Amino acid sequence: MHNIQPLLNKTYLKAKSARGVYIYDESGKPYLDGSSGAVACSLGHSHPKVLPAIKQQLDKLQFVYRSQFGSEEAEQLATKLFELSVDKSHAHTFFVNSGTEAIETAMKVALQYWQEQGQPEKKHFISRWKSYHGITVGALSLSGHALRRQRFENSLEKYPLLHADLERDSLEIQTKEFIGVVEKTGAKHIAAFVAEPIVGAAGTALTPPSEYYPAMKEICEDYGILFIADEVMTGLGRTGKWFSLEYWNTIADIVAIGKSLGAGYAPIAATMMTEKVLAPIRKGSGLIMSGHTYSGNPLSCATALKVLQVVEEDNLLANVNDKGAYIKNKLMEWKSKYSFIDVVRGKGLMIGVEFDPSMKGLQARIIDQCFNNGLLVYPAVGGPYGKDENGILISPPFIINQHETDELLTKFEKSLKELIA
Ligand SMILES: Cc1ncc(COP(=O)(O)O)c(C=O)c1O
Repeated sequence: MHNIQPLLNKTYLKAKSARGVYIYDESGKPYLDGSSGAVACSLGHSHPKVLPAIKQQLDKLQFVYRSQFGSEEAEQLATKLFELSVDKSHAHTFFVNSGTEAIETAMKVALQYWQEQGQPEKKHFISRWKSYHGITVGALSLSGHALRRQRFENSLEKYPLLHADLERDSLEIQTKEFIGVVEKTGAKHIAAFVAEPIVGAAGTALTPPSEYYPAMKEICEDYGILFIADEVMTGLGRTGKWFSLEYWNTIADIVAIGKSLGAGYAPIAATMMTEKVLAPIRKGSGLIMSGHTYSGNPLSCATALKVLQVVEEDNLLANVNDKGAYIKNKLMEWKSKYSFIDVVRGKGLMIGVEFDPSMKGLQARIIDQCFNNGLLVYPAVGGPYGKDENGILISPPFIINQHETDELLTKFEKSLKELIA
């Protein structure tokens, strides 16, 4: 075996083909993609409108290097993202290839924003312990996801992390903690506050109350700190709105997106920013010091543009809200039926289920049992301290129909019943 997969001692089944919400293994067994892979494949697989668009682009232009040429494809995608952004606030977009890179670029843009205004000492970031922002050393330094972080702890930057609980602690406790950390670190040393609007892999769809982001944004503004929203998982329709911060009527200075942008059809992500953020950089050095060989390549950009057009044309946000509410209601009913279901939460098709943390190993058993029954679900961390590997995310593609939604729920309940039998 030459290809390295996450678990070195496990033999993974090979996928042979995929269509709609199903992936087929080599024996032809179907798996309902109840997690959209890693919460990414928003249009499912082999979408009949996306594949021809990719093929057409392949025949036209595949790659140009961004410091040598621009492309109509990248320009059109950036324009579309501007039009979709909250209150048309994010006029500028820098393309990268993964959510992690989008966060790294967001950090660098924030650092440059201050440097170019003569404040290079603003170099720290504040984030929340219950979060996952990416796998590189920079992005991991912002993240508390214990499993992904622990081996590298000594090599990470020592950024201040907030520990107050988004659900259990009052808004007063949370804002007090934030202000306390800002004042202890010194606002003159802080570049930005970074947060996932709804916490995914590290929080099982943990969702703060409606006053939370307006309050945090106000504190950022009072102290001269940028607000970076990590919408890598939540963005572009997953929660039933184009951007989840719309639920809080809050506009971030910088927004990182990924996953549903390429929707599994192209590795593309992006860092969006307001004119306020770009202006001093344009006026100063005139250069954003980030980027990658494949940043903004025309093939990925044309693919992502088609993905967004399909979400819009096929009115898929309505389906996300409709099927999301249906699944959530059913899971709520099951909460009283199955005592080991602790919490059900989430918005749109980003639904978290936390299990009793005292039942060690339950998460892995549920994921395996679902897999055996032909259903994919995604692991997530839960519990008051964000350390319990006891949650899952149910996040099927936006195209899922009623019959497939019922099949998902039937397979999930069958798996739960088999585990407690
Ligand atoms: C909120 C959030 N930010 C960043 C990332 C990193 O994205 P990627 O895996 O594409 O690097 C993820 C991935 O799960 C994520 O959920």
